[in-house]
Amino acid sequence: MFKKIKLGLLVSVSSLVLLSACGGGGTATTSSGEKSVSMRLAHNQGTDHPVHKSLEEFTKLAKEESDNSVNVQVFPSGQLGQERDVIELVQSGTLDLAKVSASALESFEDSYSIFSLPYVFKSQEHYYNVMDNSKSVQEIYKLSKDKGFIALGWYDAGQRNIYTGDKEVKSPKDLAGMKIRVQESQTSIAMIKAMGGSPTPMAFGEVYTSLQQGIIDGAENNITALTVNKHGEVAKAYTLTEHQYVPDILIVSTKTWDKLSDSQKDTLANAVKESSESHKKVWADAVKSEEEAAEKLGVKMYEIDKEPFIKAAEPLHEEFVKKNESYKKYFEDFQAQNK
Ligand code: GCU
Repeated sequence: MFKKIKLGLLVSVSSLVLLSACGGGGTATTSSGEKSVSMRLAHNQGTDHPVHKSLEEFTKLAKEESDNSVNVQVFPSGQLGQERDVIELVQSGTLDLAKVSASALESFEDSYSIFSLPYVFKSQEHYYNVMDNSKSVQEIYKLSKDKGFIALGWYDAGQRNIYTGDKEVKSPKDLAGMKIRVQESQTSIAMIKAMGGSPTPMAFGEVYTSLQQGIIDGAENNITALTVNKHGEVAKAYTLTEHQYVPDILIVSTKTWDKLSDSQKDTLANAVKESSESHKKVWADAVKSEEEAAEKLGVKMYEIDKEPFIKAAEPLHEEFVKKNESYKKYFEDFQAQNK
């Protein structure tokens, strides 16, 4: 507990120093007369992660397409805190932008829970259709405006699968008594319960040591967690439950957004759209190379019959739809994109 508080203090002190000039400040103007703005973007992955590469592309496009008036500096590797911390910094306007998992946003705006519903997306094509074309996604992006942030777009963060020390998870029965780390999301907690395991919510940065020390028996994530984040050094069985596609979401502080000119807003929106599109190839290439890297680490991949897991997850869909009329509409819209 003490370690946690001390770490929290360190993060907030260094965040304050790093962020002292934040919030779309600066008075210089460009040749077209546009006021220059400097912004900070934080996320929890390292510089060798595919999502970081696409965020670099986003900042490059934002700069070029705004005639150098929008300058975004990226703070990777959780330098400014875990996902919960950076969302709070964005809410208060201390930080301009953050890339976080849609699951982490659920505690701040409940409608994001739809993205964590297991098996809500039937295939990668369905997932891409929803993320790129659904009106509900655009609506959800704006719902949190009064809570201090809106979303600008998404980046593919792949398919999530269960991994454990060495046990293949063939059916929900195999998860009995196993502590599985999940994101800090009520839907992901309910998911692992429904799938037969004991969910342990924790921040991503704590997963490696928790696996190593046996605090948890396993976790669930995309392949890069095993290789880029090295969890495959301490977890050798990757079972392809393929239970979620949870997108990474780029959020912007309402305070920052309201200070931008219309053309700067358009530039940011286009930059995220273009970099999200090119990210699909970046991600696909990464998955190929990371699968090989995982094999080299001694990770075994197990294909299973997913049907029992799909069945176990169905009540979560029913509960979601029953919550309110908007959720029912979102859910139906998502399913209609499965063409
Ligand atoms: C993915 C996602 C991260 C998230 C992580 C997690 O890797 O891209 O944003 O933190 O999952 O499981 O917490």
